[in-house]
Amino acid sequence: MSTRLIVTSPTGGTGRTTLALHLAVALGAAGRRTLLVDLDPNNGVAHALGRGDRTYRGVADVLALDVAPSQVIVETRSPNLALLLRGRLDPIDVPQFESLLAERGRLSSLLGLVEAQFDHIVIDAPSGVRALVRAALAEGTHALVAVGADPRSVRALAQTLRVIESVRERENRNLALAGMVLTRVDLKCTSSQSAVGSMWEGFDCVFESTIPESEIIAKAWEIGVPVGHMGAEGEFAARRFATLAREVEEVISPANQAVEHNVDNPRPFF
Ligand SMILES: Nc1ncnc2c1ncn2[C@@H]1O[C@H](COP(=O)(O)OP(=O)(O)OP(=O)(O)O)[C@@H](O)[C@H]1O
Ligand SMILES: [Mg+2]
Repeated sequence: MSTRLIVTSPTGGTGRTTLALHLAVALGAAGRRTLLVDLDPNNGVAHALGRGDRTYRGVADVLALDVAPSQVIVETRSPNLALLLRGRLDPIDVPQFESLLAERGRLSSLLGLVEAQFDHIVIDAPSGVRALVRAALAEGTHALVAVGADPRSVRALAQTLRVIESVRERENRNLALAGMVLTRVDLKCTSSQSAVGSMWEGFDCVFESTIPESEIIAKAWEIGVPVGHMGAEGEFAARRFATLAREVEEVISPANQAVEHNVDNPRPFF
């Protein structure tokens, strides 16, 4: 079975899609067959790649038209990386999209139909504590939490951890917390510094690699490519994601189950 890495975050806009995309690129570049799935109704992955809302079929088309997921998977030029995008969805139909996906068995069968071809499935799930986050976690093997290096994200983190813990207790005993990645770290800014400090002090499952607030990442978004596709300019940033991918793989590799972090027993934060 492939690993299913659910990327979520306590708050929106903190670089969760950026993390999911670049992690998937890096895992593919490391030789793992990787599928990046966008379960966020906002269509973040397509937007990150400079695509509009009606360009590609994806999850929404599978739900609405009974198209097989294999027919809407998009191969990329990035090695070993394919995409299952959100698909074509009228914004006013988002509530149906969310409730269909949250129906028991839907997501499980969708992923079950494609996973044999992949080592890793990276899922860009929504932020916060909505039903769709729970539904994604219920089908995951690991949760990866993108925590913005700002006080609001750090304060909201307890909510996300509570949801992960509850899904693990009630719906999916196979779910493990892979860890937390600090995103949009700006060490020139004192509130970002103190958010990083409180995360390092409060938790032992924060990855050493962090994602800095970076002009190159912002520029990659503007162009609509991952940083590794920006030539020499993006090389350093791409290497950071490669290092993070190695750290993540160490935790999620089946041979290393013992180093997975158990959310039942987090170190006290307050
Ligand atoms: N490390 C970074 N450095 C600079 N800009 C960034 C960084 N990460 C994200 N951004 C910018 O922030 C915006 C939001 O990023 P992204 O979509 O990855 O966040 P998100 O958490 O997925 O948002 P949402 O909750 O809306 O899905 C993008 O416009 C992107 O350019
Ligand atoms: Mg997003």
